Amino acid sequence: MSIGNEWQQELIFPPAPEFTAQANAGDASIYATAADDYEAFWASWADRLEWFTPYNTVLEWNPPHAKWFLGGTLNVSYNCVDRHLSTHRRDKTAIVFEGEPGDTRSLTYAELSVEVNRFANVLKKLGINKGDRVTLYMPMTPEAAIAMLACTRVGAVHSVVFGGFSAESLRERSNDSGAKLIITADGYWRRGHIVPLKKTTDEAVAGCPTVENVIVLQRIGVDAGITMVEGRDHWWHDLVAGVSDECPAEPMDAEDPLFILYTSGSTGKPKGILHTTAGYLTGVTATTNYVFDIKDTDLYWCTADVGWITGHSYVVYGPLANGATVFMYEGSPDWGRTVGEGAGAAPGPNRARLWDIIERHKVTILYTAPTLIRSCMKWGEVYPQKHDISSLRLLGSVGEPINPEAWLWYHEFIGGKNCPIVDTWWQTETGAIMISPLPGITNTKPGSATKPFPGICAEIVDEQGNPVKDGQKGILVIRKPWPSMLRTLWGNDERYKQVYWSKFEGLYFPGDGAVRDDDGDFWLLGRVDDIMLVAGHNISTMEMESSLVEHAAVAEAAVIGKSHEIKGQAPVAFVIIREGYGPAAGDTEAADKLRAELKEFVAHKLGAICRPDDIILSAELPKTRSGKIMRRLLRDVAEGRVMGDTTTLADPAVVASLREKYSSDES
Ligand code: PRX
Repeated sequence: MSIGNEWQQELIFPPAPEFTAQANAGDASIYATAADDYEAFWASWADRLEWFTPYNTVLEWNPPHAKWFLGGTLNVSYNCVDRHLSTHRRDKTAIVFEGEPGDTRSLTYAELSVEVNRFANVLKKLGINKGDRVTLYMPMTPEAAIAMLACTRVGAVHSVVFGGFSAESLRERSNDSGAKLIITADGYWRRGHIVPLKKTTDEAVAGCPTVENVIVLQRIGVDAGITMVEGRDHWWHDLVAGVSDECPAEPMDAEDPLFILYTSGSTGKPKGILHTTAGYLTGVTATTNYVFDIKDTDLYWCTADVGWITGHSYVVYGPLANGATVFMYEGSPDWGRTVGEGAGAAPGPNRARLWDIIERHKVTILYTAPTLIRSCMKWGEVYPQKHDISSLRLLGSVGEPINPEAWLWYHEFIGGKNCPIVDTWWQTETGAIMISPLPGITNTKPGSATKPFPGICAEIVDEQGNPVKDGQKGILVIRKPWPSMLRTLWGNDERYKQVYWSKFEGLYFPGDGAVRDDDGDFWLLGRVDDIMLVAGHNISTMEMESSLVEHAAVAEAAVIGKSHEIKGQAPVAFVIIREGYGPAAGDTEAADKLRAELKEFVAHKLGAICRPDDIILSAELPKTRSGKIMRRLLRDVAEGRVMGDTTTLADPAVVASLREKYSSDES
């Protein structure tokens, strides 16, 4: 069902009085307080951090460049770890980990401090200083958080690359940031297989002139079958052995770079989103506190990988800055411990893995993505019903619009009809949640992210940048700066200005369509640019097209995202094959082979999440008279819809033939 047409839903879920009575965000007056003076609102959150030197100016805004909390110095690892050590949280659990095979581990804040300090000293020993860039290519184990925090401790700028990305993506990102060091692991477990991180790193590092050292965490052991390069590669456990667990936290300027995180751009090359120290930490601290209503008694589980912004802001920095207990899981949600047979049972397929984890660990807050909710919904409620998941008290969703059916299923079968659902809209660029209900305060509606977070000024405008009336679809913009906003694109300020600030003068353009209803609630309608949201991951159609044309057989390619029941969108590639490379007419075996080869080619170049679902081998692509590929028509073809307006097409017959092709080629 199309999400765009469902925003008129009348279903409203008011907050439960018991939840309201204990809500961190207090009451609805917080919206007015923040709107009255948004700088003062954010400053009140900055004041909850520990500063080495207090800031003297809240905001300096020279559009499109913002500086927050000027003159202040602080350290992120100090705020996420050290400051809890003098409180009751010293011996509180900071991280609970479960591996895919069923192994578990936990660290208190005091233990986390030892690990972070040791590893920070290791970084220094390897010559990593303030401002140096470090690439992380890590599994979802506590060491990912430890490495990130250690970087912040010494003032190094981390760039985490998702473990599912290819060697080429890792190389491109490491080179763009000029990383001196890569931190990785021998591998990790995913659906019973080893994901060979170190082998992929070896392939990447061969083309990374700035990388001097590689640190390898031993997650798998002998089975990983890796080789260590003398002088370049070091085992994590060897490096930390005997190293002091005291490393003073580097005082960082409020605006010093904190991390770079690459995200897909609609014109191909990934964009290095740059976040800085104080503003980012303020934004994630405030949003984690209000949106997830974090309490000392909670066990909070965000299922995102640390390779994404959600993993940065809501697995590591936001929760730890709030002194929360965070749960981390290594593997796949449909794999692992066989239900009821104890931790030693042989791992295998297990669609109840999430619910088994929630029952055993007594998880209270679950934050996940619509694509996973839709998969669970398809598998059926029998799996959650096998487990006692009544410890849950709050549910969250992020990454793409959540369709009302999935929202209602989540509400009924996971939340037992009594957990507020926070549908959170935000981006890598925004650093922190921007539009979301405040649990206990905001009425929720299935499919609506509801209200801008206090202090965030979001609006909907038309193509000219004029505000539209409520009920009219338009383009989402943010009118005022906010502390956790990206500061620029690494090494490319021009592109920063062009991508986010050139569409409308003085307004931040996130690239999403939206509509606001009569209650002032926002409904997100998906991207308005060439980015697909595949299982919640941003994938650029241009990037996929460029990688396809690198294959010798491909003359031209057009990629579109077609609606997909589970993934939201799925990439479909229409490909023109060079003369001499195409399969002979009627040779379906050769055509299947070529399609499989092209899928593999893209997956190898960009990573498995970019593997096209379908490849259509075509003689031509529908183009306007000025030569632009008409993607809208390709989408119509892929989704089997009646043809749209083809009057501007150079050759309308192309579409008819493509349509025919699609029904025979779909694989
Ligand atoms: O299109 C929006 C969609 O994801 C994009 C941002 O992707 P990324 O930078 O990878 O960050 C994802 C996690 C924050 C947005 O431009 N998106 C994210 N959350 C939602 C959403 N669309 C609708 N509703 C959401 N809750």
